[in-house]
Amino acid sequence: MRAGPRPACQDERVRTDPAPKTTSPFLAACRGAEPERVPVWFMRQAGRSLPEYRKAREGTTMLEACRTPELVCEITLQPVRRYGVDAAVFFSDIVVPLAAIGVDIEIVPGVGPVVAEPFRTESDADRLRNLDPCDVGYVTEATGLLTKELGDTPLIGFAGAPFTLASYLIEGGPSRDHAKTKALMRSRPDLWHAIASRLAAICGEFLRVQVEAGASAVQLFDSWAGALSEADYRRYALPHSTAALMSVADAVPRIHFGVGTGHLLEAMAETGAEVSGVDFRIPLDQAAARLPGKPLQGNLDPTAILADPAALLAETDEVLRAGRAAGTHIFNLGHGVLPDSDPDQLARVVDHVHEVTGP
Ligand code: CP3
Repeated sequence: MRAGPRPACQDERVRTDPAPKTTSPFLAACRGAEPERVPVWFMRQAGRSLPEYRKAREGTTMLEACRTPELVCEITLQPVRRYGVDAAVFFSDIVVPLAAIGVDIEIVPGVGPVVAEPFRTESDADRLRNLDPCDVGYVTEATGLLTKELGDTPLIGFAGAPFTLASYLIEGGPSRDHAKTKALMRSRPDLWHAIASRLAAICGEFLRVQVEAGASAVQLFDSWAGALSEADYRRYALPHSTAALMSVADAVPRIHFGVGTGHLLEAMAETGAEVSGVDFRIPLDQAAARLPGKPLQGNLDPTAILADPAALLAETDEVLRAGRAAGTHIFNLGHGVLPDSDPDQLARVVDHVHEVTGP
């Protein structure tokens, strides 16, 4: 990690020792060591599926919530209290660092991130200045509060990968085919690499801030990388994701996840991330055959949570069975919790994974 004096805005009182918490099954599995049970957490475990989340969020926009340390702390803890998951995931959003450097971006309910002036030109690339830790002092503060509250439960920090962030900036919002982004890559590779390398610096710094404040692992979300062919992924996305992940190399375990990225498993692993997140479209034993010995995270289909309990637990068992082929297995969904999910069903999965794999 970067040495040197801490900026004044990073308050020493909220800082905690980011030393590895070795008793954690989650951290053991991340490092490829045999955990005492298969650890489990869920992407988007904090959020609209929880009534206590909806109550806490009343009257506050998503980005305002992300900038309010006490609220971030409360919302991050909610699923840990309710489910006894093996890790907490920091409540924030992939666009928080972009808003923090002054990009006019909003998270529109039911839509996703929307950018007021989409990025098209060199002068747009110049709008992506470096992130200063002081721009996100609320993240440092919330992380410090959380690591105290969480005790031995590790906190996962995260960032969006450059390709996924660039897609929001270039398209102006969510997109099905990422056509403008892919057209810009091909017609203006110089401009593409300028935008993506600035995003890599921003998301690398965002990860570093979270780790310095006490996060014990990070996840890089490249949710939309599945839209790229392997050749395009290698040319346009891989170098920038690798650069972003480098910022916390040797500091904490790094998880790398994408959706519909079965064809990119090997290429994404070349970023150097310790753990590969696998979406629900590829069985874990197939992923393990392609990434021998690698810690794998995943990959219950999020819609399985909406099925009846017997079907849900049968599918959970199937994921556990296939996961035994992996170096180590961290149980998760194959994408985020759907808003309509019944929290009792998620609780059933956590209890079941712990019961059947625990001592
Ligand atoms: O996982 C967690 O519990 C931590 C919090 C988290 C959020 N966003 C909170 C959130 C994480 C890890 C993210 C990452 C994120 N954000 C990704 C990558 C993961 C993925 O799902 O692929 C992406 C693509 C985004 C962008 C984004 N932000 C979308 C598509 C949306 C949904 C918009 C909607 O209303 O349907 C958001 C908003 C958002 N981020 C919500 C939450 C809890 C919902 C906002 C609300 O409660 O109103």
